[in-house]
Amino acid sequence: MAELTPKLTRHGFLVTIRSLIAASAVGVVVGPILAFFWPMELLETPEVPISLGDEETIPVGGSKTVRFGRNPAIVINLEQFGLVAYSAVCTHFACIVKWNPESGMIECPCHAGFYDPQDGSVISGPPPLPLERFKVSKDGGTIYLETLT
Ligand code: FES
Repeated sequence: MAELTPKLTRHGFLVTIRSLIAASAVGVVVGPILAFFWPMELLETPEVPISLGDEETIPVGGSKTVRFGRNPAIVINLEQFGLVAYSAVCTHFACIVKWNPESGMIECPCHAGFYDPQDGSVISGPPPLPLERFKVSKDGGTIYLETLT
């Protein structure tokens, strides 16, 4: 009676393992080179509005940091002005800014940069420019974020 399962010899097993290791090594070297010449297309900012979910996820006085294209954006629900949105990337050295409801300012933790949440302008510190402003809107209880046109 013929045997139906193929035999894997010790030599065959070692050749297979050696081939897998060699293929992995090639992938480790070639992968980053390919990624350098053909990088993923990530838009600086999305061309269409993106949904941020239900408006109740950002209560008055609260904020939410979301991915918006290549960089994060910060959406703040201000008591006096409603929803405002800015790039969360500090204009000084690109640290990620945060909303501080106690101080009422957008703060950069890296070098003590402070921004006005009403318009994104610099209040104090080293940032040379205001935060980039985005358009935030509500439709049917859902919050949308998009670039200003
Ligand atoms: S990176 Fe924000 S103040 Fe320097």
